[in-house]
Amino acid sequence: MTSADIRQRFLNFFKERDHKVLPSSSLIPFGDPTTLFTIAGMVQFKPYFLGQAKPPYPRTATCQKVFRSVDIDLVGHDGHHLTFFEMLGNFSFGDYFKEKAIPYAWEFLTKELKLETARLWAGIHNDDDESFEIWKKTGVPPERIRRFGDEYNFWAAGPTGPCGPDSEIHYDWGEEYGCGRPDCGPNCEHCDRFLEVWNLVFITWNRDESGVRTPLPKKGIDTGMSLERLTSVVNQRRSLFDTDAFQPLIQHFAEEAGKPYGSDPETDVSYRVLADHARGTTMLLADGVVPANDGRGYVLRRVIRRAMVHARRLGPAVHLSSGVPIVARLLGPVYPEVKTQADRIAETVRSEEERFGVALRQGMERLQPLLERGTLHPEEVFYLHDTLGFPIELTAELAKERGIEVDLEAVAALMQSQRDRSRTATSNFSAPLAGRASRFVGYDHLEADTSVTDVFPVAGEAERGARRANRRHRLAELEWVESPRR
Ligand code: SER
Repeated sequence: MTSADIRQRFLNFFKERDHKVLPSSSLIPFGDPTTLFTIAGMVQFKPYFLGQAKPPYPRTATCQKVFRSVDIDLVGHDGHHLTFFEMLGNFSFGDYFKEKAIPYAWEFLTKELKLETARLWAGIHNDDDESFEIWKKTGVPPERIRRFGDEYNFWAAGPTGPCGPDSEIHYDWGEEYGCGRPDCGPNCEHCDRFLEVWNLVFITWNRDESGVRTPLPKKGIDTGMSLERLTSVVNQRRSLFDTDAFQPLIQHFAEEAGKPYGSDPETDVSYRVLADHARGTTMLLADGVVPANDGRGYVLRRVIRRAMVHARRLGPAVHLSSGVPIVARLLGPVYPEVKTQADRIAETVRSEEERFGVALRQGMERLQPLLERGTLHPEEVFYLHDTLGFPIELTAELAKERGIEVDLEAVAALMQSQRDRSRTATSNFSAPLAGRASRFVGYDHLEADTSVTDVFPVAGEAERGARRANRRHRLAELEWVESPRR
């Protein structure tokens, strides 16, 4: 079954059960300062859960574009971490609750997709006897229902907002993938025999800044299931990268590199990174994120740069930007914004590749001997960042791959003293802005009335030249690479 079939079947299944199928919202959340990206299907529905807005439909279903950067370092190293993915979800705003959400999920997986019932386990919250009874009634034997605490069976979109206990459905790949411990089961810390497939959240409270949970006037249902994971389970592929959502990308990069996927574990990591990051980059750019040095733009830049490190490992013919048309072909039919902007997106990625290419080459030339030496001093990491523009997290990740520790606190201290120095140097320049807050409204509005409160001179070319010369001088003083401090 293709991922397109599964997506469609999910939406049809819930449509037939009176859910209004709605389009995905943007990866940039609208009017929600609590989260940088849309990290779940429920993000666009928060005001309905909180009772702040009246939902136009009591039940909805979506296939939502989602971007999560928390585990970016792990992407590529295994078969199941992703940055961008599509989240299938059904939602109830004060309409049905657990008594329907659980049987719906069970019916979809076992009747519609015909997953083997004996392979499905349920995780529930310690205190949730109600879900235990519903699962039992639905057909899951008690020995396949496990109880966990908040760390596994409580969900919230962020520190504040709608939240509640949840119940997860786990797929059992089979004993042969297990650790053999007698208590092995969902969330096992010793093996990856079990894969979490679907999360059913029972939205119950609104949590405030101090962590206090206030019961919501109406409880709700928020479910989320990664289309990529589901496709892998349905097609019995242990790795998400072996499904139709990723294979065309992997094959493309393997062709560029001239080495087949599956022939070498190290290059395979790079193929997976490129396949994931090509999707993440393309989808973020399609929703209007632009590479920048802070906020969302920085996350995007980081994704592109991480992909470039891996492209470089695969050889000079491999480029992240060449994956953009493939992503557009794969996801364009569902998300037209990708198709219509494919050329612009590829062009932006290409210009980032050019921009960072020199820094990457120079940085890697400097870094390689240090990595081979087996230690990295904070001054060296700082130098790479400050002089060559080589990102600290990339250095840290490359070091980690070789088992080398980086003292990130010491690096942060060097960065801070650098900031202090430059603040003093530019204090005259920034003085007129002191104490004034400006608000960026560009995500919500294309036009706004505002007042100009100050006019101040911008450094001229001569002054900028002097600053650059100063900077070079300061860096020459460092000269640590040739004689590192021990
Ligand atoms: N919001 C929950 C999650 O992201 C369920 O959709 O897991």
